[in-house]
Amino acid sequence: MRELKIFAVVAFFSLLTYWLVEPFAHHELHKKLDPQGNELIFKTHGFTYDGTDDIAEAERKGDEALVAKKKAFWSDVVAVSKMEGNAAAGEAVFANCIGCHNGANINMGGVIAPNLDHAGAIYDKNYLIALIKDPAMASNVDHKYADTSMHPMGSIKYTVSDNQQIADVVAYMQAHKAGEISPKETFKEACVRCHAMRYDKMTQLGETPKFKHEKDALSHKIKVLEEQEKVKAYMGNLPPDLSMIIRARGNHFMETFIANPQGQLAGTSMPRVGLNQEGYDKVEAYLTQIGDPSKVKREAIGPWVIGFFFIFTILAFLWKKSHWRDLH
Ligand code: HEC
Ligand code: HEC
Repeated sequence: MRELKIFAVVAFFSLLTYWLVEPFAHHELHKKLDPQGNELIFKTHGFTYDGTDDIAEAERKGDEALVAKKKAFWSDVVAVSKMEGNAAAGEAVFANCIGCHNGANINMGGVIAPNLDHAGAIYDKNYLIALIKDPAMASNVDHKYADTSMHPMGSIKYTVSDNQQIADVVAYMQAHKAGEISPKETFKEACVRCHAMRYDKMTQLGETPKFKHEKDALSHKIKVLEEQEKVKAYMGNLPPDLSMIIRARGNHFMETFIANPQGQLAGTSMPRVGLNQEGYDKVEAYLTQIGDPSKVKREAIGPWVIGFFFIFTILAFLWKKSHWRDLH
């Protein structure tokens, strides 16, 4: 059975390259370094937020004061998350939020404050607590501010400063989730204020309406450009359109990047968004729907194609055997 031996050798080397050599080369060529040049040993903590990554990052920088500050902040967050929140009392606290989160599509110091209808469903509880305590620390962009109350949502720590109030408002958001949220809504609540989705006619202003008159379409376009300028001024550069991102980056990159942008791309200007697993799954589903709509079909066809090749290989082998038999 010479053929089988040849096949075994080819299969062996293909698999060796696939499982060992390629990942190793990839790892060596794309070492992840922090701004100080240390290799990042990136761990995913799923979509849980307890400060582990942030403290480790501060330790790598060797900044003792920062380590202490991050430890104190996150242990406070974890303590509040253990408190019993009163959703009814939280409704009154929530009134402090809707002054900015009012659905009016108005830019607030850099971006439009997102709709919070499903915040309790798509964001992690610890993250929400951290965000109210100090948005810049929660999003891990505190290094951008000399004083973190300069963050567009920074003033909240003065209006809602009591731990019980924070526990209450988070309990309110978690109890009040305004029904099941679709993948597209999730993207609109969590990402669209920064990222456009050209293939789905979404800009930083949300869905582009249909205009009857060219003039209206143009004036909308100008508003989009103006909004983009503000986002750019806030972020340092315009966040990329995400229409094709799910194909450009694998799921693993996306998952680790969204859970902790700094861990995956040190120095990136993207703030941490704080999605929980459910929120992330919804966003990923939307990015796939738009960027890779044939994925479901392709994956269904895959086993059939492999089955076809398998049967075809056997037939070809038998055919060859029957031909060579007469020549021996
Ligand atoms: C002064 C205006 C203002 C107030 C008050 C405010 N926010 Fe915000 N909030 C913002 C802005 C602006 C953003 C977007 C910030 C960004 O993307 O960098 C934001 C973002 C958020 C997000 C998305 C977080 C993320 O990281 O993606 C949540 C959730 C949120 N706010 C909840 C609240 C809650 C709850 C309250 C009340 C306790 C509140 N906000 C009060 C302005 C405000
Ligand atoms: C407050 C603004 C902001 C929000 C909200 C935001 N991003 Fe970003 N994002 C950015 C910026 C800025 C960059 C560019 C980072 C860089 O170049 O360093 C970025 C980059 C990215 C990238 C990397 C693109 C690449 O080329 O590798 C991905 C993926 C991404 N964002 C996904 C998301 C998703 C998904 C959401 C919603 C869950 C989201 N972002 C919410 C600002 C934001």
